[in-house]
Amino acid sequence: MKQKKIVVTRNIPEEAMALLKEHGNVYVWDSVDNVIPYETLVEEIKDAAALYTIVGDRIDKNLLDHAPHLEVISTMAVGYDNIDVAEARRRGIPVGHTPGILTETTADLTFALLMATARRLVESSDYLRQGQWKSWSPMLLTGQDIYGATLGIIGMGRIGESVARRATGFDMKILYHNRSRRPEVEETLGAVYCSMEDLLKKSDFVVLLAPASSETRHLMGEAEFKQMKPSAVFINASRGSNVDEEALYNALRTGTIWGAGLDVFETEPVASDHPLLSLPNLVALPHIGSASIHTRIKMAVLAAQNLIAGLRKEPLPFEVKT
Ligand code: DGY
Repeated sequence: MKQKKIVVTRNIPEEAMALLKEHGNVYVWDSVDNVIPYETLVEEIKDAAALYTIVGDRIDKNLLDHAPHLEVISTMAVGYDNIDVAEARRRGIPVGHTPGILTETTADLTFALLMATARRLVESSDYLRQGQWKSWSPMLLTGQDIYGATLGIIGMGRIGESVARRATGFDMKILYHNRSRRPEVEETLGAVYCSMEDLLKKSDFVVLLAPASSETRHLMGEAEFKQMKPSAVFINASRGSNVDEEALYNALRTGTIWGAGLDVFETEPVASDHPLLSLPNLVALPHIGSASIHTRIKMAVLAAQNLIAGLRKEPLPFEVKT
């Protein structure tokens, strides 16, 4: 019997690839760091039964129009803003994702980014390597205290909660803003629910962890940065589209806020001449929230399991529900 075609848009860990090969005829865009060209994907999807995709691929209506045989889409990510899920659903194509298993790893990175930004780690390391370190100096490369500070989390989902748990070890006061209140987080972590405005005004660190949607687009803009303390640090480990980057650039440049750490950008990869990257008070990372070896392998395998379930017409272990 002719095997079904599985399109995989990037080289993935062997553990996951082996699973896929047991269940179909795999086409893989054989690259470690180059996105599959959209036109190639349109061509390859025409006779495919399954699509294994990653962050950065555009899975839109036009692509689905070229995919008459598609039975399942599986993304190696928890976020799925790059996929037109409504359109897939309309065609009866389930979409799988990988929630849960990357929570702690992403919370680690978010907290690391917060610390690196507050204590100017990247700038300090560059300073040393560039031979600028002449002597210990009283106010040299001084930053913001983390211990005992107020942390405001926008988007108290799984990752937000894990970041809050880490913050308790630093005796931080935790505020949060979310679509709905989380009484269990209030009880176990002492987090205090507040309005967006209150959170922005009172927090020393504002951490954005809301998923991307049309409602959260540019959730942080000029007005929001203006409400923050001039000593405050802003961290985004969610999606770049949640932030108005021009407004953030102006806020950092004019001292409206003190610093920012970004793991995500509106356009990824961000151009190396992007104005934000010229600022010394910005720490920038290339979307590595979930990038531990162990977690990425688990994500790759779970995405394969979702895909295989879809091919077998079984419920996906983790289907996107919107
Ligand atoms: C996700 O899973 O959505 C991340 O952004 C990549 O790990």
